[in-house]
Amino acid sequence: MKRIQALLALSLLLFAGLNCGTENPVEETVGTSTVEISTGTLRGEVQSIDGVLIQVRLLRDGQLLTQTETQATYELASIEAGNYTLQISAKGYETKEVNVTVTPGQVVSLDKVALVALATPVSHLRGVLRDKATGEPIGEVNLQLTDKAGKVYETLTTGAGVFTFENLPVEQALTLTIAHAGYEETEVAVHPIPAAETLELRVQLTRLPEQEKLDPGQGLSLGSQAPAFELPDGNGKLKALADYVGNKNVVITFYRGGW
Ligand SMILES: *[C@@H]1O[C@H](CO)[C@@H](O)[C@H](O)[C@H]1NC(C)=O
Ligand SMILES: *[C@@H]1O[C@H](CO)[C@@H](O)[C@H](O)[C@H]1NC(C)=O
Repeated sequence: MKRIQALLALSLLLFAGLNCGTENPVEETVGTSTVEISTGTLRGEVQSIDGVLIQVRLLRDGQLLTQTETQATYELASIEAGNYTLQISAKGYETKEVNVTVTPGQVVSLDKVALVALATPVSHLRGVLRDKATGEPIGEVNLQLTDKAGKVYETLTTGAGVFTFENLPVEQALTLTIAHAGYEETEVAVHPIPAAETLELRVQLTRLPEQEKLDPGQGLSLGSQAPAFELPDGNGKLKALADYVGNKNVVITFYRGGW
């Protein structure tokens, strides 16, 4: 109780102190600085198609940044101000592209979009991406699918690891490529998909072994993986650890030179 009283007294003193100091220009500026808002929101609506999920992808300079799935309305928040292309697509429908400018601190409402059915037959691919060891889904991973002609389709996994590629060429071998930080780069051959069908795929990524972070002068601990390195031999020729891995045991000795 004594302590609380002491604190109260102290804060009253401080308060009084602040009050008498209002003539000080330094104190007057406190609390008036504004936080600059550099992001905005995009909002829109797509004429719903019975039971069909609509993919909304946001690209900047041709690079896929974020993606969301919807039945009708969508909202992309915290988007850095700038110019973007919004791709709206659904299975069996022509992809619609809209160029948009995101303004800081504002919500941009886009016109309602109606998708038009595709005239040509297409196929689709959907799947789940998981960590091979833990079975946990991996979200926010960029996946690229390449067709025979070299055309690249791009998508991002959802938080539940789900990925969707819609409107792919029919009966064509495709290659799925996944390069994600911390995992082995993975390539999956996708079998040709018949018209109007959706191939379901389960893909697993193998985590790369973690490399020990070392302070200068600190040795590796027993059983840990050595970092890749190159060192000059006695004749000044560079030798890499990778040259020996798998066929020899490696012993490193540091030779002080002759003098
Ligand atoms: C975005 O596009 C508008 C024209 O639509 C242009 O005036 C503006 O400079 C562009 N902004 C950026 C950051 O490229
Ligand atoms: C969007 O802008 C790009 C150039 O940044 C242009 O090539 C493309 O035709 C535009 N798309 C639409 C739908 O206006």
